[in-house]
Amino acid sequence: MKKIRPAQTIILKSPREIEKLRAVNQIVATVLHELRGYIEPGISTGELDRIADGRLRFYGAGAAFKGYHGYPATACISINNEVVHGIPSNNRILNEGDLVSIDLGAVREGYFGDAAISLLVCDGPDVAKKLLEVTSSALVSGIAEASAGANLGDISSAIQRFVESKGFSVVRKFVGHGIGRALHEPPEVPNYGKRGCGPVLKPGMVLAIEPMVNAGGYDVQILDDGWTVVTADGSISAHFEHTVAITQHGPDILSELK
Ligand code: MF3
Ligand code: CO
Repeated sequence: MKKIRPAQTIILKSPREIEKLRAVNQIVATVLHELRGYIEPGISTGELDRIADGRLRFYGAGAAFKGYHGYPATACISINNEVVHGIPSNNRILNEGDLVSIDLGAVREGYFGDAAISLLVCDGPDVAKKLLEVTSSALVSGIAEASAGANLGDISSAIQRFVESKGFSVVRKFVGHGIGRALHEPPEVPNYGKRGCGPVLKPGMVLAIEPMVNAGGYDVQILDDGWTVVTADGSISAHFEHTVAITQHGPDILSELK
C-alpha cells in the first residue's frame, strides 16, 4: 500500500500486458500458497522471508519490495496489532494464536505482481477469526464492484460499508493502487469512499485492491523502524490484497491461484 499522492493519468494495459501481469501475479499467488504450509509456532518471520525469496527466484521472478524506498526484505510480515509493512526478522518467532499477514510483491519481465493474505497460527480467538473472515469478504465485495463503467468509489464504498457493518474499521492512511510496469501507479484505491465518486473504470485498468481492517479504531502509527505500521489502540489487524484487471467481462483476479 502506498501513501496518498495527487491523482494522475491511469495507464491502460493491453491484453498482452495483462497476460504478463497474470504470469507474475500467479507466481506471487503460488509462493503465498506455499508459505501457508510453513506457518507454525516456532518459525521466525526472517525464515519465512528467506523461503519467499528463494521460491520467487525458483519461479523466475524477483522481489519487488526489496530496495523499494529502502525496504530491506522480500515480504512484509505483520503480526497481531501490526497492520502492514512488518519487517521480517530472525528474532520474530510465531506463536500459536498469532494473526499473521504476509504481503508479497514480485517482478518479472518488467511487470509487477502484488498480493497479501492473513491467517492464524493454528487456532486463535474468535475475534481474530471474525476479523479474517470480514477482511477477506470485504476484498471480495470490493472486487465485485470492479467492472467497466463503475466508479472507483464503488469499490471503496463497498469495502467500507461491509467492514463497518461488522463493527470493524478500515485503515485510512494507506490505500491500494494501480499496478503494471511499476509497483505503484495511479490511481489510489482507498478502502473508504462514496459510491459514484472517483474515476470511471475502463477495460485495461489494473488495480491492487487491499483492505487493511482493524478490530478497533482506524487510526495507525508507524514504529521507530520507519516501516512497521501498528494500530493506534493496540487492536489486531488483518490485510488481504489481490491484483485485479478490469475487463469487458468483469473483474479478472490476476493473483487468484489458477
Ligand atoms: N504490498 C505493499 C504495497 O502494496 C507493500 C509495499 S511497501 C514496500 O504497496 F516497501 F515494502 F514495498
Ligand atoms: Co499493494
